Amino acid sequence: MIPGKYIWMDGVLTPWEEAKVHVMLTHSLHYGSAVFEGVRFYETENGSVLFRNGDHVDRIFYSSSFMEMQLKFSKKDIVKAQVLTAKESGLKNGYIRPIFYITGKVGVPPIGGEAHVAIGCWGWDKYLAADSVRVKTSKWRRIPQNADICDAKICGHYFNAALASMDAQKNGYHEALMLDQNDFIAEGPGENLFIIKDGKIYTPKNEGNFLPGITRHSVIIIAKDLGYEVVEKNFKLDEVYNADEAFFTGTAAEVQPIESVDDKLIKNRIGQITSKLREVYLDTVHGKVEKYQKWLTYFN
Ligand SMILES: Cc1ncc(COP(=O)(O)O)c(C=O)c1O
Repeated sequence: MIPGKYIWMDGVLTPWEEAKVHVMLTHSLHYGSAVFEGVRFYETENGSVLFRNGDHVDRIFYSSSFMEMQLKFSKKDIVKAQVLTAKESGLKNGYIRPIFYITGKVGVPPIGGEAHVAIGCWGWDKYLAADSVRVKTSKWRRIPQNADICDAKICGHYFNAALASMDAQKNGYHEALMLDQNDFIAEGPGENLFIIKDGKIYTPKNEGNFLPGITRHSVIIIAKDLGYEVVEKNFKLDEVYNADEAFFTGTAAEVQPIESVDDKLIKNRIGQITSKLREVYLDTVHGKVEKYQKWLTYFN
């Protein structure tokens, strides 16, 4: 990990190594009461760009709304702060991590605590270390939507994701796949799933039971613009095992081909449609596709 120079802490660019919190008075550390995002920035021929910065900021505010955080900053402030953090980082490409957290409160309900914002970034290349990954269905189910707000990016949720990832990695797989309470595919610990069968693209329907990714949204638009049919529907593991192609999407993972699920080989290790979508996605984030320039914020 190559750290960016500064962390924006409540409006102040603070050197990376000086950005600290109190271990006892940070409610978020004890109870998971923080919300976060991951935004990538890329080097292009015309300077560096943040990809879908405004959409990530909208989502972190959506997530924070469940914690009744009294934020001192507006969406506009955070949009600008994320650009500034990347610009001053000394990096040309990387991953930006805003986190809204709560201090000054002990005890379970965060009400009455003080809300803070920190935004840092670091250089991050490939997230999953293979051109096509081996996936294991987790014994850990995704948190049910009658137990928590599953389509918000809340720090406390990520222990559920961490259990699944640790179980997969300890058993020699690259990544986990999580099912919901009804055996339908939910998502990966940090990714959404797509499968392809007979030329059609399928991805789980967003019914509040997983995080509807911004990359998922971008890939659906790209696929439709390329003329593919995209079907959002609930499906189970048998359809994944029988798919012609499968891939994950995520800000960190980008478009990540899947070669097997539970040791069952997917027909095409890196399929043609997956390759095409990955190519157009990577061209998009690198500023090479005119019609998706609207998703980019240039700096430098
Ligand atoms: C649980 C989960 N699902 C899906 C995703 C993919 O979302 P996005 O494409 O917005 O990064 C992420 C990553 O943020 C995630 O943490």
